[in-house]
Amino acid sequence: LWKNIDPAPPDAILGLTEAFKKDRNPNKVNLGVGIYKADNGRTPVLESVREAERRILDAGEEKTYLPITGSEAYGEAVRGLLFGENAGAMSERAVTAHAPGGTGALRLGADLLQRFRSASTVWVSDPTWANHHGIFAAAGFEIQSYPYYDRENSRLDFDAMLAALKDVPANDIVLLHVCCHNPTGEDLSPEQWEALAAAACEKGWIPFLDFAYQGFAEGLEADRRGVRAMAEAGPDCLIAGSFSKNFGLYCERAGSLTLTAHTADDAATAESHLKKTARVLYSNPPAHGARIVTTILDDPTLAAQWKEELAGMRRRIHAMRRQLADGLRSRDVPLECDHFERQQGMFSFSGLNGEQVDFLRDEKSIYIVRSGRINVSGLTADNIDYVCESIAEAVKT
Ligand code: LMR
Repeated sequence: LWKNIDPAPPDAILGLTEAFKKDRNPNKVNLGVGIYKADNGRTPVLESVREAERRILDAGEEKTYLPITGSEAYGEAVRGLLFGENAGAMSERAVTAHAPGGTGALRLGADLLQRFRSASTVWVSDPTWANHHGIFAAAGFEIQSYPYYDRENSRLDFDAMLAALKDVPANDIVLLHVCCHNPTGEDLSPEQWEALAAAACEKGWIPFLDFAYQGFAEGLEADRRGVRAMAEAGPDCLIAGSFSKNFGLYCERAGSLTLTAHTADDAATAESHLKKTARVLYSNPPAHGARIVTTILDDPTLAAQWKEELAGMRRRIHAMRRQLADGLRSRDVPLECDHFERQQGMFSFSGLNGEQVDFLRDEKSIYIVRSGRINVSGLTADNIDYVCESIAEAVKT
């Protein structure tokens, strides 16, 4: 079977981790994959998560299958975080499936849409997370881009974005990053979300919201503005969520797909098709991560502890952004540096080109996604000078 088949290229992001692990340089730095790291260079298991795991172990729950869409408690917890306090009707007209990670949620939504909107085009931002293209192509969709980032001026180009989205035909699907845009870190303001929600209603396109970083930009409440704006304006939309980052549950695959509808009856219909779709993809979701999330969110003390731990991760990211910008400015690096401090979330779109990224990997063992995306949380007190020095060299050579 495999004799005459060429090997596939490594994954643009996860492939970097494979290469990093093989690198023997003691100074190596992984700024590739979007995994949070503490100042000691390790990805912490949150204390709230450890305590939840102790409780789960003590409770000794059975390991039978979960329902196709996961436990009801998990769905409620997801919607609570997505919509926030006073969600009222918004939450009642929504249904949630526990999906295996944010990627699983996107694929579940893509396959669901393929059943009813197979002729639609999916519109993604330019640039977007590399895997978005793969997921929607695998589900059989044609993909097109809308303008998002002005590379020349290192900023969001909202006017061009809105103008393009006003031309998207009804029933096409528009993928939007709710916060911590991956890869640029450039987010939309509340007014810009209102304008997008109005465009979705007027034009009849379907918003598909990718919400993998809630709590990493400004906070749980502020970060959900895009979800609230869409849900309040009323177009039926899909929301892919993930607890990989904000609970640090990467390998537990605790994601979610939430669908909003015009009525509770429509939502029930949507849920019936969600079940059909999930059943043939993975049958039912893995339980452990979801149990951790519900154990934490159902206990006010643990929930408060988790929020504080999340705020700590956010603060460290902001601090490393400042140190990166200062470190590059002090070395007179001819790169625009203000955007490092302005952008939100784990990623900064550095402005480094492909050759400079290759130089950093080959000569300095610093791993960055080839688009120039840097995982700022991979910077630590121990490596920040080495990284700034190396970037200065890469830009000058
Ligand atoms: C990333 O963008 O690095 C993360 O979302 C991890 C992944 O699956 O690519």
